[in-house]
Amino acid sequence: MKLKIAVLAGDGIGPEVTHEATEILRAVAELGGHEFTFVPGLIGGVAITEAGSPLPTETLDLALDADAVFLGAVGDPKFGALAPDKRPEAGLLQIRQALGGFANLRPSIAYSALSGNSPLRPEVTEGADILFVRELLGGLYFGAPRWWDKTSSANGGGEAINTMRYTRDEVVRVARVAFELAEKRRKKVTSVDKANVLEVSQLWRATVTEVAKEYPGVTLEHQLVDSMAMHLMNIPRNFDVVLTENLFGDILSDEAAVITGSLGMLPSATIGGAVNLYEPVHGSAPDIAGTGKANPLGAILTAAMVLRHSAHLEAEAAAIEAAVQHVLNEGYRTADLARLSAGATASEAQPVVSTREMGKLVQQALTEATDRRQSMHAV
Ligand code: IPM
Ligand code: MN
Repeated sequence: MKLKIAVLAGDGIGPEVTHEATEILRAVAELGGHEFTFVPGLIGGVAITEAGSPLPTETLDLALDADAVFLGAVGDPKFGALAPDKRPEAGLLQIRQALGGFANLRPSIAYSALSGNSPLRPEVTEGADILFVRELLGGLYFGAPRWWDKTSSANGGGEAINTMRYTRDEVVRVARVAFELAEKRRKKVTSVDKANVLEVSQLWRATVTEVAKEYPGVTLEHQLVDSMAMHLMNIPRNFDVVLTENLFGDILSDEAAVITGSLGMLPSATIGGAVNLYEPVHGSAPDIAGTGKANPLGAILTAAMVLRHSAHLEAEAAAIEAAVQHVLNEGYRTADLARLSAGATASEAQPVVSTREMGKLVQQALTEATDRRQSMHAV
């Protein structure tokens, strides 16, 4: 299997966690005789500094020419005063649009080893395994008109506009992705909207209901976004695939990190376009950049999604996920995961490891499991 991966490490902790993810991919390539090539490119604040734009043309060309794009994180408070279209985040939105992936998959899983990390009681999170399908190219993020004319004399700059807009086709295509994934899981789709207030949500609900007819084996339920925010914390086990528009999915997927115990654990894949885009859900965390405290597991689990969705190497993807679980079961924790067990007694204390160490532990677990499988086949 050959795969050319554009690696856009970005800002803050992006480069550190991306390094661990690509090391795991290298290990998978070596173990399985695959040929993965990694081509680096600039995006975000680092691209503004070095090339004058959050998404330089070279990066875009490189991404469009790759089989998959792996992105670390973008965002740097240094550029916080710039207009939205000049900030590091603009580079991310532009590349999402250019690659064309409209379905952003964000799994949120309650790992039993981390059940003490969530502020939710273990009996609430136990068994939770949710897959968010967030529409990524529509809604308020991209709708026009959008402006804040600070210099306008008519309103003294005291007015701004964003537009929430969806077409039926945009809803149909992302809904189909959700139903197809649900068919392979627990066969339930929860569609989130605000249909009691917004016309856009009424279109969303009517369209998803239509699409559901193509998938008779899948149960569809609708939830209003406000009560969904509550149900997610009350009964996370009730949800399988959760289908949302762009902004609702942005908010709910961060909320769902509470189920896992840390935002640092969450991976994502964006599919449906010319080139799939892979990014951990966490941001650039500039406060801990370069300290070795970043949790690379979100990025490593994102690498597993690269294998699943771009290389069709399901067994290898599952092996990475199993290696992550193994390391967590062994008690190893990055700083974000260890914080909540600060009150633990000495005998319960878990080894706190750096970003690099965590990456190596996962790689070791992966190699050992592969060796075991191979020796079992040999006998
Ligand atoms: C995410 C992030 C981005 C988003 C930002 C950085 C533009 O929060 O991927 O969830 O809002 O989509
Ligand atoms: Mn977000």
